[in-house]
Amino acid sequence: MNIKIQEPVYYLEQNNEKKLFKAAAEMNLPILIKGPTGCGKTRFIEAMGEELGLKVYTVVCHDDLSSADLIGRHLINEDGTYWQDGPLTKAVREGGICYLDEIIEARKDTTVVLHSLADYRRVLPIDRTGEVIQAHPDFMLVVSYNPGYQNVLKGMKPSTKQRFISLSFSYPKAEAEIEVVIKESSVHKDIATKLVSIAGEIRQLSDSEIQEAVSTRLLIYAAKLISKGFNPYEACMHSIVESLSDEDEVLEVLEKLISLHFTN
Ligand SMILES: Nc1ncnc2c1ncn2[C@@H]1O[C@H](COP(=O)(O)OP(=O)(O)OP(=O)(O)O)[C@@H](O)[C@H]1O
Ligand SMILES: [Mg+2]
Repeated sequence: MNIKIQEPVYYLEQNNEKKLFKAAAEMNLPILIKGPTGCGKTRFIEAMGEELGLKVYTVVCHDDLSSADLIGRHLINEDGTYWQDGPLTKAVREGGICYLDEIIEARKDTTVVLHSLADYRRVLPIDRTGEVIQAHPDFMLVVSYNPGYQNVLKGMKPSTKQRFISLSFSYPKAEAEIEVVIKESSVHKDIATKLVSIAGEIRQLSDSEIQEAVSTRLLIYAAKLISKGFNPYEACMHSIVESLSDEDEVLEVLEKLISLHFTN
């Protein structure tokens, strides 16, 4: 017999976010998570889905996302046309977390379908079929975005935003980030500590120098390369440095900073 034991999703709590998420789930309130790239938003939702025993339906939003992509559409087969639920409708009908990542990228006419779902009514009207679905008691709506590089013209309508309980994420504190890096890459503690110090220094550089600070994700990439046997300096160049900027002067500053911790 080939029994595969699935490892639980690893998530290290930062503040009190698990308690808040569970309370929101109990009270049937939707959640909005904002935070920079690679700080653990997606991982958190996966972990909460697992903890609460709820399937997670993830939709990455973009300009061309239509309400049909969320709700569903009529399709044709040899017997004629039939209706196929989209991920939002599936979660509303059967229960589960519908997670709309990068919600700000979606057009407003797409997200407006969320309004009646995200307030006390918890209903999803489907114009195309005339159906009005009352959400399953285990349905939960979660959205996230990165406030750093949002298009000013986009933003979220206050009437959408004010339907959510908000959670603001940032990179983990040094101790926690070291723990995450070790757990995710099996790198030695000394190396993880150095990587997190490098991140701390880069995060202090001004916004004009780099668009977005180094993420926990990039630190894990560097640590994984080091675990594979790459020299730490080289690993940092290929993960942290090259991913943060394309400008020569900035690359030079970052390279100098790395070489203070790891020799070439
Ligand atoms: N608190 C944490 N516990 C466990 N792992 C974490 C934590 N924070 C970050 N990570 C690690 O960082 C990686 C990146 O996190 P994740 O993909 O959740 O970021 P994100 O905030 O969703 O980023 P993006 O906005 O780019 O989608 C994860 O794969 C995980 O390895
Ligand atoms: Mg994500």
